[in-house]
Amino acid sequence: MPNQAAHHTELIVALDFPRPEPAFQLVKELGDLPLIYKVGSELFLAGGPDLVRELVHQKKRIFLDLKFHDIPNTVARAIKQASLLHVEMLTVHLAGGSHMLKSVVNELAEIESIRPKILGVSVLTSFDDVKWAEVTKALSGHAVDVMDSVLGLVEHAVAWGADGVVCSAIELKPIRELCPGLYTVVPGIRPHGFSAQDQARVMTPQEAHLAGASAIVVGRPICESRDPRTITEQILRESGQSAYFNG
Ligand code: C5P
Repeated sequence: MPNQAAHHTELIVALDFPRPEPAFQLVKELGDLPLIYKVGSELFLAGGPDLVRELVHQKKRIFLDLKFHDIPNTVARAIKQASLLHVEMLTVHLAGGSHMLKSVVNELAEIESIRPKILGVSVLTSFDDVKWAEVTKALSGHAVDVMDSVLGLVEHAVAWGADGVVCSAIELKPIRELCPGLYTVVPGIRPHGFSAQDQARVMTPQEAHLAGASAIVVGRPICESRDPRTITEQILRESGQSAYFNG
């Protein structure tokens, strides 16, 4: 467990919108708060690289979450293009294996000055053990628990070249024991009173913070709120960022 006095958890707001306008509107409304904005496949397909360039131009910190998973050469070349947009973090599926991760790292070695954090996606937070068993049985003939799969992938992530991992808050403690200091990004976050929706492995912002998350990802509780600023400020406070409001 990190020193709670020093530790704060970064807040990543998932800009999950079908058009650029509401995304820019939300960013404007949250303006000065200490946030990272996540652009996923929906908004990226709607707004393209120009949307990312504009947000970077506005000095916003961007996490481009396109969860790359393809042959090593294709992923490495896509990651290079994404890095040229000056985003701060990117995602690749750890299931792409060591060859995919290592070819990404080799490609990025050539553009060291703008190297984004490479985050490895373990098992998506929408999976529970029952849903995951369907996949693992199809792959190998027997069911594997989510926890075992996540830890199995994370154990290799650092050696393969990942700078951090995406996981659920439920796996944080064993991951921290396995790889102390690893940057952990945790989606599946629901403040008290919010429905889990399609997420399966959920925790509150405060629980994830206390479990040692480096960053949490929150989408619908903020994007679908009538008062996104208030809920975002509440989540920042729960994530150990009260100092921001106390001057
Ligand atoms: O709306 P909600 O808070 O559930 O959004 C979570 C965001 O985090 C979505 O953009 C989703 O794609 C992303 N994500 C996730 N689980 C992962 C990786 C990313 O939910 N394992």
